[in-house]
Amino acid sequence: MKCAIIGSGLVGAATALALHQVGITCNLYDQIDLAQHSNADGAQVAVEFGETGGSVLLAANALRVIKALGLLDELVANSSPSPFATWHNIDGSGPLKLNTIAINARMEKDPQLHAPLQILRCKLHSIFMRACHQAGIRTYTSKKLVRVDDTPGSPVVAHFADGTTASADFIIGADGIHSSTRRAVFGSELKAQYTGVTGYIGVVDTAAHNIDVDGTCDFYLDRVKKQLVCTFKISDQISAIQVMTLGEPDEEETDGWRPLSDLPKHAARLADVLQGWGVPKSVEQMMRHAYRISPATIYDLPNLKTFHQGRVAIAGDAAHGMVPNAGLGLGTGLEDVGTILELFRHMPNLENLDTVLSLYSELRVPAATSNAQKSREMAQQSYSVSFFGPGLNNFLLKIAVFAFNRSWLPFYEIFDCPAEVAKKMESLKHK
Ligand SMILES: Cc1cc2nc3c(=O)[nH]c(=O)nc-3n(C[C@H](O)[C@H](O)[C@H](O)COP(=O)(O)OP(=O)(O)OC[C@H]3O[C@@H](n4cnc5c(N)ncnc54)[C@H](O)[C@@H]3O)c2cc1C
Ligand SMILES: *[C@@H]1O[C@H](CO)[C@@H](O)[C@H](O)[C@H]1NC(C)=O
Repeated sequence: MKCAIIGSGLVGAATALALHQVGITCNLYDQIDLAQHSNADGAQVAVEFGETGGSVLLAANALRVIKALGLLDELVANSSPSPFATWHNIDGSGPLKLNTIAINARMEKDPQLHAPLQILRCKLHSIFMRACHQAGIRTYTSKKLVRVDDTPGSPVVAHFADGTTASADFIIGADGIHSSTRRAVFGSELKAQYTGVTGYIGVVDTAAHNIDVDGTCDFYLDRVKKQLVCTFKISDQISAIQVMTLGEPDEEETDGWRPLSDLPKHAARLADVLQGWGVPKSVEQMMRHAYRISPATIYDLPNLKTFHQGRVAIAGDAAHGMVPNAGLGLGTGLEDVGTILELFRHMPNLENLDTVLSLYSELRVPAATSNAQKSREMAQQSYSVSFFGPGLNNFLLKIAVFAFNRSWLPFYEIFDCPAEVAKKMESLKHK
């Protein structure tokens, strides 16, 4: 069997590794033009996208899938555990500490997977892409998908903007929250909505600048002014810092939002802004010395009813791009990958392809929708000020963290890919 994967981001690359494991030949196609990126290698060497983005937090659900792909040791060697997540007032006062190990230990037997791991996004991507290269999976760049032809009786064909095509037995669209695969196959009205939140992400060498970083994952928050700063410790050397603000709804603006404050794309000027916001000195220093500042514009994809149409499936942000406030986005995408892997393990033949893709959608739509909803609720906690003032939301966040901490309320649920797929297979037998 042959698969064309559209998008070689984290989820696309992980999907390729999963399919390779079950003997499905696949190629990756990405719109990225490597000539415009540093670290650009030739076509047949491991393709890397260069240094972009900040960090990602991988909880037990994501770690399980990475382990199934055989890459856990390499991940552990390149990341740091984050045993706590802490919410503060913007000035660092009133810390609310969440024990992330306890959250995962409630659901996961393997102690190695209890602490979430923090890793540079580009590092994780390069681990995946090198593994793809070693497995002989080819990556084609400058391939922007524009259309898909799914005519019964012939292979399904992906058409790219440069006029070339790729044909395969099936296509997986892992082309991110603005997915062309989704729009081409599932309908152009299924578009991600701008949330009014904009910001910047940077990376900082804290060791070189003698900046003390206490926590591993910290949020500094002013609900009234709708300002949020997040710091993530990736190693004793490096941290990532993220600044975000929510604008005011404004009919006159084309995207419907007027920014509350114009953030400059410049570390020293951003640091001045943060100083004005009243963040702790160490946070301001982190911003001042940050490099590789990249913009983050936050979108939310409405819930989809299906992730499968004909011989095309979508995975990752293409299927369920969500606001980043709960840190569940990538983990949800990797659960898609774990599910695809398990389904093909049970049904490796072409004659079952339609069943595999339908079951994939059936299993993943409810789980992904629930994570997207949790993320929206966390965003509400961060930015909204209730009728009773910010105090009430603070109080609610306090109660929520308190309850998550004691497992009275689940922060998230791990989707157990092998168990969920086995259950589905069992229920099919009895039909
Ligand atoms: C600020 C921020 C912080 C986040 N923090 C976390 C976190 O801590 N933990 C977590 O789990 N998640 C986090 N997320 C979410 C996480 O980043 C995403 O869920 C994840 O990157 C999705 O991966 P993906 O491969 O589906 O999509 P992407 O990473 O968007 O990759 C899509 C790929 O498809 C390519 N592509 C796009 N269009 C086309 C086309 N037409 N043709 C061909 N190729 C195309 C792109 O070039 C890209 O390489 C965060 C997100 C944001 C915005
Ligand atoms: C959560 O648990 C940790 C220890 O496991 C504790 O330090 C922290 O204060 C607790 N947080 C809340 C809000 O109860």
